[in-house]
Amino acid sequence: MKQLDKLLDGNKSWADSLQAEHPEFFSSLSKQQNPEYLWIGCSDSRVPSTQLVGMLPGEMFVHRNVANVVVHTDLNCLAVLQYAVDVLRVRHIIVCGHYGCGGVKAAMNNTKLGLIDNWLRHVQDVAEKHEQLLSQIEDKHKRADKLCELNVIEQTINVCQTTVVQNAWDRGAEFAVHSLIYSLHDGLLRNLGVCITNEEDLLTARQQTWNESRP
Ligand code: CO
Repeated sequence: MKQLDKLLDGNKSWADSLQAEHPEFFSSLSKQQNPEYLWIGCSDSRVPSTQLVGMLPGEMFVHRNVANVVVHTDLNCLAVLQYAVDVLRVRHIIVCGHYGCGGVKAAMNNTKLGLIDNWLRHVQDVAEKHEQLLSQIEDKHKRADKLCELNVIEQTINVCQTTVVQNAWDRGAEFAVHSLIYSLHDGLLRNLGVCITNEEDLLTARQQTWNESRP
């Protein structure tokens, strides 16, 4: 119970095999990181950001929380975002949700789980905004899947409305903010077709979500 043997053994063999494949890997990576991507995803253990895109350490800066929510007062997420945009100067910010998200399901079903209900309230806000659209979907799994997609898009818009992104665009920084969703069933990512690179794109995306929320 007190031992972490499995974890430490796993780490040893992972480091050994990486070292064998790329002898300079750890020595060069320990000097600096230069990732092109910021990933904002769900904490779900089945959605391992770097692994599922086949990237190595150093290639992706990552922030994960339950249901990949971006809240304008979440200092943790904002600090990650600011560091990624202003210091690392990433080229792509990816908000990635996943079908079958437990957080989204709990939000949709109004399940009482404790403190986390407050966090999932943000997903319930998304569900309320899109209630007309969601209520037309009879199958509850399909409805949950649709809410997973809508949540990703709304959180992508939230990223773009932070002072971090707004200020970066004002000074001419170039990067794109994307919406992706991952399927636990086939291990594949799908692009939800949102790619925001400036204020004009943001306005279009916002308009689209409002139009879709009133079918
Ligand atoms: Co999830």
